[in-house]
Amino acid sequence: MNYNFSEKLKNMQPSAIREIFKSLTDPSIIAFAAGNPAPESFPIEAIAKISDNILKTDPVKALQYGITEGYPKLRELVAKRLDTKFGIGRPDDMTIIVSGGQQGIELTCKTLCNEGDTVLCENPSFIGSLNSFRSNGAVVKGIPMNEDGIDTALLEEALKNDPKVKLLYLIPTFQNPTGRTMSLKTRCEVYELAVRYGVIILEDNPYGELRFEGKELPTLKSMDTEGIVVYCGSFSKVLSSGMRIGFLCANEKLMQKIVVAKQGEDVHTPMLPQMICADYIEQYDLDAHIKSIQDLYRHKCGIMLEALDRYMPDCVKYTRPEGGLFLWCTLPEGIELNEFVQAALKRKVAVVPGTAFNCDTEAGSDAFRVTYATPTEEQITEGIKILGELVTEFMKG
Ligand SMILES: Cc1ncc(COP(=O)(O)O)c(C=O)c1O
Repeated sequence: MNYNFSEKLKNMQPSAIREIFKSLTDPSIIAFAAGNPAPESFPIEAIAKISDNILKTDPVKALQYGITEGYPKLRELVAKRLDTKFGIGRPDDMTIIVSGGQQGIELTCKTLCNEGDTVLCENPSFIGSLNSFRSNGAVVKGIPMNEDGIDTALLEEALKNDPKVKLLYLIPTFQNPTGRTMSLKTRCEVYELAVRYGVIILEDNPYGELRFEGKELPTLKSMDTEGIVVYCGSFSKVLSSGMRIGFLCANEKLMQKIVVAKQGEDVHTPMLPQMICADYIEQYDLDAHIKSIQDLYRHKCGIMLEALDRYMPDCVKYTRPEGGLFLWCTLPEGIELNEFVQAALKRKVAVVPGTAFNCDTEAGSDAFRVTYATPTEEQITEGIKILGELVTEFMKG
């Protein structure tokens, strides 16, 4: 059979980094390439107790259809938490539960963008979102970043020159893949530009609660007096990634349409994980649990930075994240990224080449992403030592 694929998906290829991700199942490989939270960050015992109790005391609710907007108790708990902890949510906003932040991102694009509309993103950006935008027929355009986040002068130029911009997708805090955080000044400028040019901001914040250094910064959504920000959050990095619980908060009129789009995708997010999540928030101390995850990542990130400072030649530059899971290393001129990544894999260290996160799929990169979340402390030191030795070998030619 000659399958005639849709225009939307015809040109989308399986990720070039699939081979690298495949290698992550090999236990002898040091997995700096994963995007997973640390296995020790899941509150396994508590979740086992809660699910056992739900299935004994309220099994029908857990196993029956639910409503598209989400389990009411969880929606209420999430909305309250967003309001009291982060100042998010206005009287005309609405919060719904989605199947992971990934679905929230996809639904927002599907609801707002026509074929050929532009989505502006930080470049580089999260591959899962870029692929969602592409598969919805949107044109992804990247805006370079600097130390303060997205370059606002270049952002304004893009907004001025492209009347088809519908959405501005941003990961302001502990960005994936760079680990960078947008400064307060840039946040204010970005918000003002979006208002001026009438563009919706999709603020993706799955890592915001994983701050282990520095000062908390306000989210774009907390500044949203005009109702132009769609806020996407997730329990993936603070409770469980496999439970697939995320949430969206935005103006009610927009959210009603997003709910229609969600209904056509999966009717609703599975009830059992929603109920587990709600009971965890109600019966346990989520903030204390998050604090323990922050402590864990502070420690592991510290080990990685220490190893980088010690073993990486000075010609390699790397970010020093204040939270989240990732660190971004830039190679010196003269080292070909793909050759370097393949050589690292041969030495049993997996990193993700920067090309995977490019908005322009044809563009090159001189950087790679590493995570400190999943490898052990010994693996972090050993893996960075190997990467450092490789850089020296490549420099010698
Ligand atoms: C920036 C960013 N956004 C969204 C997601 C999706 O997360 P989830 O669907 O597990 O909530 C991820 C996952 O790694 C991410 O890195």
